[in-house]
Order: sequence, then structure tokens, then C-alpha cells
Amino acid sequence: MIEVKNVGKIYTNGPAPFEALKDVNFKIDNGEFVAIMGPSGSGKSTLMHILGALDTPTSGEYFLDNKDVSKLSDDELADIRRDKIGFVFQSFNLLPRTTVLRNVMLPLVYADVSKHEREKRAEESLIAAGLEEEHFSHLSNQLSGGQIQRVAIARALVNNPTLILADEPTGNLDTKTGEIVLGTFQKLNRDFGRTIILITHEHEVAEHADRIIFIRDGRLVEDSKSHQKRVIHHTKHDH
Ligand SMILES: Nc1ncnc2c1ncn2[C@@H]1O[C@H](COP(=O)(O)OP(=O)(O)O)[C@@H](O)[C@H]1O
Ligand SMILES: [Mg+2]
Repeated sequence: MIEVKNVGKIYTNGPAPFEALKDVNFKIDNGEFVAIMGPSGSGKSTLMHILGALDTPTSGEYFLDNKDVSKLSDDELADIRRDKIGFVFQSFNLLPRTTVLRNVMLPLVYADVSKHEREKRAEESLIAAGLEEEHFSHLSNQLSGGQIQRVAIARALVNNPTLILADEPTGNLDTKTGEIVLGTFQKLNRDFGRTIILITHEHEVAEHADRIIFIRDGRLVEDSKSHQKRVIHHTKHDH
């Protein structure tokens, strides 16, 4: 479903051009749970913006469901985001003084569905994200950090996206709450078959995924999937 081919990104808004991504290549299948890991400044968010159709690469190609997203206009990118992608950010971006249910319904406001249907989908997403029903009518500023992040996950699910992208989703949470949120992603992947890309600089967070892609200074330096293949290959040689 995802193919990143020779992707490069050069920022030209600073005093000198800055190469944030260099010749990045990987594929991700439907139903995978992948972590993209690297130190601060390695290009993780830049890569996520490209994967999430928030930005386009300066070189290379990005295919999402066989469509080349890398050269689309801003309007076409917005359509891709609305139809195919759910975002979960570190800063939760919920509307304050607005109920949980309304926050989750928000991405559907441009979808051509009745209010009743929007409510139904929002409730289903909240259940899938693991928020207890008693909180659905609470205001978002009355919730704990972990509950807020579950609402953010529910909001990312409500448009039934092909891909869920999470950028440091546990960055503002204590370890225990972070574990619960990561468990929610695992459940969404295992029980609901969602494709998840989780961006993090922490090893303990990345380990919740089934595959880890490491980037450093804008380059892909290791992919646990290809590593696994090499190990299998070696074993064959040994026999
Ligand atoms: N919009 C931008 N304009 C110029 N430089 C940027 C921009 N966004 C990120 N960068 C630079 O690109 C590098 C990678 O940034 P980023 O993708 O945010 O890394 P990470 O998410 O891994 O911390 C950093 O050196 C950062 O300063
Ligand atoms: Mg970042």
C-alpha cells in the first residue's frame, strides 16, 4: 500500500538549503505496524509529513494505494488526507470546551453523512480507541492526558483511514499512560487490521511495533524487516 522510492527533501526556506531526507526507500504492506525511529532532527517528522500527504518530496516518488502522491497539488493532497489518513500528534489538538463526541465527529463535517451517522461512527471509533462510554459527553478539557490521547486516536479513526500516522503520540504522557496508549495502537493493528506508522525517538516505544525503520541524518540506516530476511538467508546457507 505504501511505497517510498528514492525520496529526498530539501528545505530552501533557511539561509542555506537543508537536505532533511536523502534517497529514502521502503515499502509497507496493508496491516503492518511499523515504527520509524531516529534521534531528534533525523527527519522523522519530515518523513511523516510526506507519508501523511501534508507535504511533497523534492525528489523521488511516494505511492499510496498505487497512486503517486508526490506530485499532487495542495487540493489533491487535502483529498488524500481526508479520505485515507488518520493523524495522531504529540500535542493533542482537541477543541477545548467541546465534548468528546463532537471532537471525534469533526473530521466528518465535510463528509456527506447525516448527523446521526456521524455520531454513530464517532461512538464506534471511541469504543475502538478504548475510551469508556461515560466520558463521551465530557468536555475535552475535563479529561486526563491518557483519555485525551484516546480521543485523539478515535478522531484519527473516524474517517475509516487506510493509514494511521502517529508522531510521538506518547511524548507528553507518563510511562504508564504511554503504555496504555501504545497498547491501544497494538489492538487497533491486531484486532482491527489497521496499518499503523508510529514515529518515535524512544526505543521502548518503537518496540511495540512489529517492524522498526531507523533513520539518521535523513537516511534510512536500518530496516528490521530486511534484517530479518538476511538472517533467514544466512540460515539457509548454513544448512
Ligand atoms: N519547515 C522546515 N524548514 C527548514 N528546515 C526544517 C523544516 N522542518 C524541519 N527542518 C529541519 O530538518 C531537520 C529534520 O527535522 P524533523 O523532520 O523535524 O526531524 P525529527 O522529527 O526527526 O526531529 C532538522 O534539522 C530541522 O531543523
Ligand atoms: Mg519530529
